[in-house]
Amino acid sequence: MNKKIAVLAGDGIGPEVMEQALKTVKAIEERFDHHFEYTTALVGAVAIEQTGNPYPDETHDVCMKSDAVLFGAIGDPKYDNDPAAKVRPEQGLLAMRKQLGLYANIRPVAAFASLLHKSPLKTELIEDVDFLVLRELTGGIYFGEPRGRSENGDAAFDTCSYHRYEVERIGRLAFEYARKRRKKLTAVDKANILATSRLWRETMLQLHDDYPDVELDFMFVDNAAMQLVTFPKKFDVLVTENMFGDILTDEASVITGSLGLLPSASIGLHTSVFEPVHGSYPQAAGKNIANPMGTILSAALMFEYALGMPRESKLIRQACEQSVRQGIVTADIAAGKPYSTSEVGDRIAQLIGNQE
Ligand code: IPM
Ligand code: MN
Repeated sequence: MNKKIAVLAGDGIGPEVMEQALKTVKAIEERFDHHFEYTTALVGAVAIEQTGNPYPDETHDVCMKSDAVLFGAIGDPKYDNDPAAKVRPEQGLLAMRKQLGLYANIRPVAAFASLLHKSPLKTELIEDVDFLVLRELTGGIYFGEPRGRSENGDAAFDTCSYHRYEVERIGRLAFEYARKRRKKLTAVDKANILATSRLWRETMLQLHDDYPDVELDFMFVDNAAMQLVTFPKKFDVLVTENMFGDILTDEASVITGSLGLLPSASIGLHTSVFEPVHGSYPQAAGKNIANPMGTILSAALMFEYALGMPRESKLIRQACEQSVRQGIVTADIAAGKPYSTSEVGDRIAQLIGNQE
């Protein structure tokens, strides 16, 4: 099959983990006799440096014309430490999400059997953990207006707002995913305090009429944060607004042993984007030590969700599992000698070629 893939490596460890993901995608291309066209484009701090804009129009064009976007990471401490900076790399990510209409961010959390000892939680708590978080990605406090500072600068404000249609479209998706899984959906909110959360509850209850076969329950976000580490097995599909989803998925990611393992898919109105959850990890940039599996597993999600190639997706996951079992892993999850980012990438690409 012929497909166009946009490659946005971005900042920090982005380029080096992306290089490994591309090795695996090329191994799939060869093995299945596909033909992929790769177009690289700028995003994040490197885009600011070269064009002044963290999500340049040319990059948006490339994304719109592609069948899928593979994304590395963005962020640079130079901007984090400068509260007065006018443009920030993160604005590029938000602009991309908004302009591509990526309203749903899907973050699957499943434990690797051979890595249970790496989790900060007791093995009996995390064995067989397998859930999916659907995070709303283009609304809420990340985008609400007005926002800013008072005239004298001594106060600041942000706005959390949601429209019914924004809840409906991700809510439906959540019910659909739950239907394909264990049919259990948990909507996470703070309806005891927030008006937006009450709109979410009302809308989810209305949608439930169309999905009577799915069990729906509601959970306050503080309680959800606690249950994720005390009884993670109880979850099947979670759906929540933008900021709660941001926080809960970082928490959820370490349950499986390392933030470096968690992939994500962002889907919506236009081209879907696949990116690791971990971010730019500037301390490791250029050192060839970062875990490339979050990005490689994101490529696996790309085959499944955007390119209609479930077999290819499964093969990548199997190759990652095998690499983990063989101990060919980076320092964050290594029990013995750690392997480098590129060694792990090479091994996974090779395993793809050898899989039955
Ligand atoms: C994420 C990241 C982003 C977010 C940052 C980099 C803007 O933390 O994708 O989870 O907050 O959404
Ligand atoms: Mn985050």
